[in-house]
Amino acid sequence: MTQPSKLPLRAAFLGCGGIAEHYLSVYRDLDWVELVTCVDLDLDRAKRAAQLVGSATRATTDARDACADDVDVVVINTPNHLHKEQTLAALAAGKHVLLQKPVAATLAEAEAIANAAAQADQRGLISGLYLSYFDQPLMHDFKAMVRSGWFGDIAHLYARLMHRGGLALSNQVQAGQANWRASLAQTGGGCFIQLAVHYIHLFAWMMDSPVVRVMAMAKNQFCPGIEGEDIACAILEFENGALATLDMAWNTAGEQLSIHGTRGTAEYIGNQTLLLDSSVGEFHGVINHFSMPSQLQGVAAPGTAATQQSSKVIAPALGDIANPFNQHRMFLEAVRDNRPAPVSIASGVTDLRVVDAVYQSASNGCAVQIAG
Ligand SMILES: NC(=O)c1ccc[n+]([C@@H]2O[C@H](COP(=O)([O-])OP(=O)(O)OC[C@H]3O[C@@H](n4cnc5c(N)ncnc54)[C@H](O)[C@@H]3O)[C@@H](O)[C@H]2O)c1
Repeated sequence: MTQPSKLPLRAAFLGCGGIAEHYLSVYRDLDWVELVTCVDLDLDRAKRAAQLVGSATRATTDARDACADDVDVVVINTPNHLHKEQTLAALAAGKHVLLQKPVAATLAEAEAIANAAAQADQRGLISGLYLSYFDQPLMHDFKAMVRSGWFGDIAHLYARLMHRGGLALSNQVQAGQANWRASLAQTGGGCFIQLAVHYIHLFAWMMDSPVVRVMAMAKNQFCPGIEGEDIACAILEFENGALATLDMAWNTAGEQLSIHGTRGTAEYIGNQTLLLDSSVGEFHGVINHFSMPSQLQGVAAPGTAATQQSSKVIAPALGDIANPFNQHRMFLEAVRDNRPAPVSIASGVTDLRVVDAVYQSASNGCAVQIAG
């Protein structure tokens, strides 16, 4: 049996762009982890990341440096189309891998990554997927509420994630500045693959029930510089019979996640306002671990259910190691203790099967069944 890893665990960042900067501090603040190398095609970004973490951290532009002998764990934060090549190289070099979502730009590439990860697992290498929403304690509360029957039977779930980043990106690309998010080949789609994988994963995980059928529409309304869709609306059916609606866009703004059951409803709006309404009674969960105090109070809004609660729920920063659900810390602990990663690569491949079916449905206008 493989032994727990020797400490300190030595990590390399492959890609030090937008998202990587949000959780670099985890690798600075855990005293049993060292970030030894920061790699980015843009040397200034690699240097900036290295400086934030420590003076001994190397900054380089060569991806092979992420697999140097003194690296145990490679954290891959590069554009989607690079995930397969970089993950396979890291696993072949005997490194543990934490990979950004989505697993890859295509289902075939994602399956190749999952196969390589399964083989590497036999050699004691841990690989996992980073899904930032699992950092949010509220998501874990929602799962506990589903399990405890607080919602009754789940009839419907809803997710809207819309931001206007696509409009600016489209203008930049038309002005001659290339960006991987505007490329169908490099991203694997448009806003849907980038934004919806979070909710596909969360909803199936909360209910322990996979998606079995989808119907969707997707189009590019206002972002001519982007090859993929800038808006997509999908309906999912889960094995347990629940339906979900996912509305994703890069051309307007708004955020909401809701769960509707026969006995209770939760609506989480704008990433901060939580409204709960149930005939089962109040719910008090790990929400109380938030740095911002949760203020539960009765509201006078009309409703048929007995108990209504409203609360401000602010998600912890992605670099906060004190958050009990910090996904980077949890992955590093899994490597340290030789346990499976909190989120498997294989589960991310399942998400991409749903994304693939959504794009098929949007293109042929028919419902698409997902093979079990
Ligand atoms: N909520 C989330 O979890 C979340 C949010 C944003 C992005 N992401 C994912 O993270 C990944 C990166 O997204 P981002 O927003 O940080 O993109 P980004 O464009 O801001 O950063 C990507 C970085 O990778 C670097 N890079 C490109 N090719 C490279 C190579 N061959 N070797 C080394 N570095 C290279 C770029 O120079 C850039 O600094 C994507 O897979 C994206 O889907 C996840």
